[in-house]
Amino acid sequence: MITIREEIFRDVEAREALLDACFGPTRFQKTCERLREGRVPADGLSLVIDRDGEIIGTVRLWHISAGPNRPALMLGPIAIDPSVQGLGLGGKLMREALTRAADLGHKAVLLVGDAPYYERFGFSASKTGSLWLPGPYERNRFLALELDAGALDGARGLVSATGAFEQKPDLGALVAAAAQGALAGMRPAL
Ligand SMILES: CC(C)(COP(=O)(O)OP(=O)(O)OC[C@H]1O[C@@H](n2cnc3c(N)ncnc32)[C@H](O)[C@@H]1OP(=O)(O)O)[C@@H](O)C(=O)NCCC(=O)NCCS
Repeated sequence: MITIREEIFRDVEAREALLDACFGPTRFQKTCERLREGRVPADGLSLVIDRDGEIIGTVRLWHISAGPNRPALMLGPIAIDPSVQGLGLGGKLMREALTRAADLGHKAVLLVGDAPYYERFGFSASKTGSLWLPGPYERNRFLALELDAGALDGARGLVSATGAFEQKPDLGALVAAAAQGALAGMRPAL
């Protein structure tokens, strides 16, 4: 059975393998990656397509500001397993992600991608002309969709990441704790 559901922790390895298969290692050089690295995706907007336990599609959306004080989402990467591309799954996943984003109250979604594909979901470059991404990209591939009409009217300036930071283990604290433990172990018994 094929279902679209929220990603869970045990999907991460399969999602990363799928992204490697679709984009290769250069995916980490993409300008959009600057808006994702070190951040967590927007709540409820990391989706996978699950076919009987196998991950065959992924999409995530990220908190950004489209210029100062203009909350929006950045979509990507989206990928469908090469063995099942062209069967409508990408379209289903896009529509599900956009519906969930709208239901969660988000006002606009930006992405960098092929306009001939994303136009079918309502994306265009008409509202991104005065926005800038933090790195190189092709202007005609920088697209946006307003979930709330007019949400990007007058949007200008640099797009910046606004999502929560990923929790990473504090190495300093771990080393200090390990050293304390070692010292405690060396104390002579009274
Ligand atoms: C792009 C992608 C997500 C689309 O998913 P999919 O399940 O293959 O697409 P669908 O079956 O929903 O739609 C197929 C249609 O999209 C078109 N299409 C697919 N990729 C396209 C692209 N890059 N540019 C223009 N049209 C595209 C197909 O020609 C087809 O058109 P038709 O409906 O007129 O026949 C998927 O092909 C994929 O993962 N590609 C590799 C990774 C990638 O490029 N991701 C997008 C950049 S972030």
